[in-house]
Amino acid sequence: MKYATIGTSMITNEFINAAKEQGKLTLQAVYSRTEEQAKDFAKMHGAPQFYTELEELAKSDIECVYIASPNSMHFEQVTLFLKHKKHVICEKPIFSNRNELDKAFQTADENGVFLFEAMRNLHMPGHLALKEKLSGAGRIRSAVLDYSSYSSRYDKVKNGEVPNIFSLKFSGGALVDLGVYPLAIALDIFGKPEDITYSPTIIETGVDGSGTLILRYPDFICTILCSKISTSYNHSEIQGEEGTFTIDDIGTLANVRFIQSAGETIIYEEQSQHPMSYEIESFVNIMESNDQEKYNQFRKISTDILEITEKARKTNGIIFGIER
Ligand SMILES: NC(=O)c1ccc[n+]([C@@H]2O[C@H](COP(=O)([O-])OP(=O)(O)OC[C@H]3O[C@@H](n4cnc5c(N)ncnc54)[C@H](OP(=O)(O)O)[C@@H]3O)[C@@H](O)[C@H]2O)c1
Repeated sequence: MKYATIGTSMITNEFINAAKEQGKLTLQAVYSRTEEQAKDFAKMHGAPQFYTELEELAKSDIECVYIASPNSMHFEQVTLFLKHKKHVICEKPIFSNRNELDKAFQTADENGVFLFEAMRNLHMPGHLALKEKLSGAGRIRSAVLDYSSYSSRYDKVKNGEVPNIFSLKFSGGALVDLGVYPLAIALDIFGKPEDITYSPTIIETGVDGSGTLILRYPDFICTILCSKISTSYNHSEIQGEEGTFTIDDIGTLANVRFIQSAGETIIYEEQSQHPMSYEIESFVNIMESNDQEKYNQFRKISTDILEITEKARKTNGIIFGIER
């Protein structure tokens, strides 16, 4: 399947390398706003074509596009490609709010193409192993999922700059950037919570630099911690009456253990494949086999994530530029 990329930052490099490893997507074209960058990026990755006009790329004979632009640009770009009947893999957070998501999925349906959110950890073997073994913990009584990692881009904030990921204009902030990873895992294994509350630490740019999201389930609370202005060295935990799962890194689910008073079992240990190759495999399988059931599972998670993050933001007065 011929695909193109939008965005020329580190994550697009990673996606291209993962796609090469996975083997089913062939890089046909790259897009950048500037010709020099587009040309260099195409050369670096061996892409036959490069574009500086999105419309032209959308009209080309690619079948699929990977979008890794700043968050607030996703909706317009995704819509353009869907309307040209291209499958779209869009980086997380897929959109700024639920309204954009509903409209985009409708456009995908109308044009008979797939739209995926690249939420890589949902596709990792560690997550699948955790899901399979979860019942071993018995009744779940507490979960604490933590994704806190100091961002070097916060140094720029300290110098008075507003990097995209720390800006309201580009729909940034800790919850939508990092908190969505543990949130996706929680939604996939526990389902949609009865209620949520969010307590953010708002920084000078107006976004949440860190925050605590509480997901309330009938039998337990799942606490999600996220930060881009400090780093956690704790692992994440899911505690049941019969035992506790520990997860070293909720972003990759490398190293998942199950601990009971009798001892410890390794559920999953570090994978050797490229971390993004699993999601690519998943998306390609869904597209090739037209697996609507799997597609709808991921679509539901993306929908619930946006409903929750939008509520979490708006109850705290975090309003993105496109929403003003
Ligand atoms: N899955 C993961 O592990 C992971 C990791 C990091 C990021 N992400 C996601 O990937 C997306 C991109 O994140 P990022 O940190 O790479 O973003 P970024 O560096 O701010 O921008 C990504 C690309 O978008 C273009 N761009 C930058 N500023 C722009 C602007 N003002 N207007 C239009 N285009 C602009 C640039 O490409 P050109 O200059 O070539 O046009 C740039 O390479 C986000 O949605 C993020 O959440 C995912």
